[in-house]
Amino acid sequence: MVNPAFDLTGQVALVVGAAAGGLGEVAARALAGAGARVAVADLPSRAADLAATARDPAAAAQGRAASTHEVDVTDEASVAALFGAVIAEHGRLDAVVNAAGVMLRKPYDETSVEEFERVVRVNLTGTWLVGREAGRALTRQGSGGRIVNLTTVYAERVGPVPESAYYSSKAGVVNVTRALAAELGPHGVNVNCLAPGVFYPTQMTAALGADPDRLRWFGERTMLGRLGDPATDFAGPLLLLAGPAASYMTGQVVYVDGGWSAW
Ligand SMILES: NC(=O)c1ccc[n+]([C@@H]2O[C@H](COP(=O)([O-])OP(=O)(O)OC[C@H]3O[C@@H](n4cnc5c(N)ncnc54)[C@H](O)[C@@H]3O)[C@@H](O)[C@H]2O)c1
Repeated sequence: MVNPAFDLTGQVALVVGAAAGGLGEVAARALAGAGARVAVADLPSRAADLAATARDPAAAAQGRAASTHEVDVTDEASVAALFGAVIAEHGRLDAVVNAAGVMLRKPYDETSVEEFERVVRVNLTGTWLVGREAGRALTRQGSGGRIVNLTTVYAERVGPVPESAYYSSKAGVVNVTRALAAELGPHGVNVNCLAPGVFYPTQMTAALGADPDRLRWFGERTMLGRLGDPATDFAGPLLLLAGPAASYMTGQVVYVDGGWSAW
């Protein structure tokens, strides 16, 4: 028998940035496996990959087929419409996972203002915007809930690869998480942040596949001596923060990085 703290039966979870091949897909499958009805959302250009995430035969067989939704987290109206559509379809909302994100690997002096602001717009403003609409929906509903943001092992440090826009935006995600946790705490809404190390392969980390030396370096940099596997290493910590198990956790950054940040 599963500990009730990890049972999401009867709950509705929304995963933003859930097109197949990424951590959002893993989150959606984990939440469905824990009994939740799941709504998944991504950019219109990722519709086919989003449909692939939604094809979860086990959940569908139990009458919990995932609903799919288009969203651009940089667009205020689009994010508001997403929450309206999810509530209209499922009648309630209990957990929101924001896995939408972009990365830009470029030296600082070759990065334009437009490129820098684009990364900040998706990763930081997008996280705040999804958090704002999630907060509004959950407080209106009045039964609490959980919001899980995605930062990185580089949230409070940087790595050897030039990614100034990415590092900056992801540091901001930490304090967006804490700020929303403070404001939403009185409403019983928990807001936490997962900080993955290097999980391979996803679309975002695909370029690493062409650089086996760097890939090996990333693995050796951890205490466990290996990279994270999205399917096996990510789902558990995600369920911890997205489910009732997190009832007394809020404003936290949970590192899932094989010990990288603990050296
Ligand atoms: N994979 C890793 O090793 C790793 C490590 C640390 C942090 N992360 C973080 O985890 C999250 C997921 O990363 P991933 O590796 O699964 O990458 P991914 O590229 O597979 O997933 C990111 C998703 O965000 C979506 N997206 C991008 N811009 C969007 C927008 N404007 N509106 C809506 N959706 C948008 C993409 O279409 C994609 O489906 C990101 O926030 C990333 O920074 C990943």
